[in-house]
Amino acid sequence: MHLLFFAINAFNPDAFTPGKEYAYSEEKAALGKKLFNDKILSNNNTRSCATCHIPEKAFTDGLPKSMSLENSELSRNAPSLNYAGFQHGQFWDMRKDDLEGQSSDVISNKEEMHGDLNLILVKINQHKEYQSAFEKIYHSPKTEVWQLQNVLASYIRSLAGFNSDFDHYMRGNKSAMNESQKRGFNLFVGKAQCAICHFVPLFNGTVPPVFKKTEQEVLGVAVNGENKTFDEDPGRGKFHETVASLQHSFKTPTLRNINKTAPYMHNGGYKTLREVMDFYNKGGGKGIGFTIENQTLSDTPLQLTNQEIDDIIEFMKALDDR
Ligand code: HEC
Ligand code: HEC
Repeated sequence: MHLLFFAINAFNPDAFTPGKEYAYSEEKAALGKKLFNDKILSNNNTRSCATCHIPEKAFTDGLPKSMSLENSELSRNAPSLNYAGFQHGQFWDMRKDDLEGQSSDVISNKEEMHGDLNLILVKINQHKEYQSAFEKIYHSPKTEVWQLQNVLASYIRSLAGFNSDFDHYMRGNKSAMNESQKRGFNLFVGKAQCAICHFVPLFNGTVPPVFKKTEQEVLGVAVNGENKTFDEDPGRGKFHETVASLQHSFKTPTLRNINKTAPYMHNGGYKTLREVMDFYNKGGGKGIGFTIENQTLSDTPLQLTNQEIDDIIEFMKALDDR
């Protein structure tokens, strides 16, 4: 049983697509990869998706908050795209259900790429190589918006290697993780209570018993690791103004490849995993002293020792894809 659960193909990407015409294929992913790296998707051919989602940084940009086209800060940190295909809500506030919906949001966003999907389609339909690649996949004479969205989404669905040291360990290679990482895993699922929200094996948040939803939580995150000022971003609450429990709630993201994606949290305010651990160890926002009626994270300090914190951080490094 454990072998199946930790197998490289344990998760079916098509369980997360909006319909059967969106089914995953390697051909779609390969075309999506080209477009992901092509500035053709932005208004003045100035940026591509990879401008803010850099492969070496697990598809983040290393900045606290991404920069807009006018070089001012956007409101949030660029999340990793690895394993983003296996969640039922996209963006920190889950404002889109699936990856297809997500890409049109970003392309047309004035600050991010300021692209016009219809103009982009004209460019693509005039581009011999792209046009014939789309035709081969979808068998239609002209590329349509949903097809562009679908190939980009397919590429992102392919970014799930399941080949970290943790995966190798769970598949039976007992030397793939060191002693500190093993202790860290036991703390992660035990004393530190991380796995209450970051579910093994994707290490993201989901809702049992059917796991068909992605979970949001309220941690009471501060504007930065000094933990002095509460971050007022309403998160999901922006779309549910009358629901008190959703104010300042954010998606529980995957922790896979987390070692490559500093800085952390929706606001990129926490520079290191140690700062993140310090926040959790104090009981989150409430534990620090912020007034947050609806915090879902326990505010009881975890009382982790320095050694225990080191072990948990070491364990998180075992989640890097090789
Ligand atoms: C200007 C930088 C920038 C560019 C360019 C950009 N993104 Fe993003 N991306 C972001 C930021 C910032 C977020 C988080 C926004 C939020 O949650 O409110 C994000 C979120 C996402 C997410 C959601 C992931 C998750 O786990 O919630 C996906 C998927 C994504 N981007 C894919 C793309 C694709 C595909 C492109 C190209 C069409 C692209 N991005 C271009 C900055 C950028
Ligand atoms: C109550 C649910 C909950 C618990 C318990 C929890 N987390 Fe989280 N975690 C979240 C949510 C939600 C976020 C995103 C919060 C935000 O950005 O405002 C997050 C973010 C993170 C991040 C930053 C992710 C990124 O991409 O920037 C790390 C690292 C992390 N958690 C590690 C841990 C560890 C280690 C533990 C145990 C000590 C833990 N979490 C316990 C829900 C939880």
